[in-house]
Parts: sequence; structure tokens; C-alpha cells
Amino acid sequence: MFSVVLQSTTTSTPAETIALAHAVGRRLQTGDLVVLTGDLGAGKTHFAKGIATGLGVTEPVTSPTFALHQRYEGNEIFHHLDVYRLEDLAETLDLDLPELLESGVTVIEWGDSITDVLPTDRLTVRLEMTDVDDERSLWFEVDQENENRWRELVHEAIVEVTA
Ligand SMILES: Nc1ncnc2c1ncn2[C@@H]1O[C@H](COP(=O)(O)OP(=O)(O)OP(=O)(O)O)[C@@H](O)[C@H]1O
Ligand SMILES: [Mg+2]
Repeated sequence: MFSVVLQSTTTSTPAETIALAHAVGRRLQTGDLVVLTGDLGAGKTHFAKGIATGLGVTEPVTSPTFALHQRYEGNEIFHHLDVYRLEDLAETLDLDLPELLESGVTVIEWGDSITDVLPTDRLTVRLEMTDVDDERSLWFEVDQENENRWRELVHEAIVEVTA
């Protein structure tokens, strides 16, 4: 798989990260998969919260680290996963990913650790801390073969929050 960076941007506050993710979430539909990657505290859960509100989820989204999977209902079903604690890929079988993926929009924190069991058609958002407090760099990456739809979606979302 050849990964391409579609676009990168920065946010200066947690609220900005949520707003950007909200703009992405508004454009997602059932069957879509977003992988969130980045160090502890990079902002993955904040990004997931924004996707949730973008999908019309009104219930507060919390970190699913202990539950591994939380299901929410908005305009679409929203599956929020955090696989940080998974010890090996076999444990993903219990999650029944194929069923999850087709039944809603799925966001997986630390999903880069389980790419072997994920479809290649997915958006990866890489979050990185910078030298500036509260600033985060966000990199939007996709597989080259699935580039077209994601490119437009990411571009529109970034334009929406920076306009
Ligand atoms: N620009 C920013 N975007 C997002 N979070 C930010 C930003 N600036 C500061 N923060 C802070 O960074 C932390 C991000 O926490 P969050 O739980 O979203 O990270 P995470 O990547 O999910 O961590 P974990 O790996 O533990 O799940 C929060 O304390 C938040 O307030
Ligand atoms: Mg988190």
C-alpha cells in the first residue's frame, strides 16, 4: 500500500481540533473508516469527539480505552474504538470488525497498530504535538488507490474551518 499525504494543517486549541473533526464528520457516511494515530495526549479522542458531533451524536463521547468499543447513534451509527490495550491481532476478532465497519462510521484510535486487519480504503489522521503548547499538526493520509474521494472530503473540511 502506498500511502499519500493529502493535506496537513495545524490547530492551536483543543476546540479547533474538534471543529476540524466536526467538519470531517459531517461528510462521513456509513461504511467509512477513520484511523487516528499519534502519541499519548496528541488529541485523538478530541478528534473523535468532533467526528461524533459532525455525525449528529449528542451523547458525550468519552475515551473507550477500557471498553475498546463504544457505539453511539446520531444521523449514522458511530463506532468509537481505542485499540491501545489490544495485545495481539487475534483479539480484534472479538470486535467483529467487518460487521462494525458496514454498520456505521468507525473511528479507531491507535488503529495504525492493526492495519493488517483493516480495509485499505480508510482515512488516517496523524496528530503530532509541536514545539508550541496546545498546537497540533494534523496529517491526512490515504492509500493511493483510494485517494480521490478522500482528497475532496479532506479539502472541503479544511476549507470549511479555515474560511
Ligand atoms: N490543539 C489541540 N488539539 C487537541 N488537543 C489539545 C490541543 N492542545 C492541547 N490539547 C490537549 O491535549 C490533550 C489531548 O487529549 P486526547 O485525550 O484527545 O488525546 P489522545 O491522543 O486521545 O490520548 P490517548 O493516547 O491517551 O488516548 C487534552 O488534554 C487537550 O486539552
Ligand atoms: Mg484517546
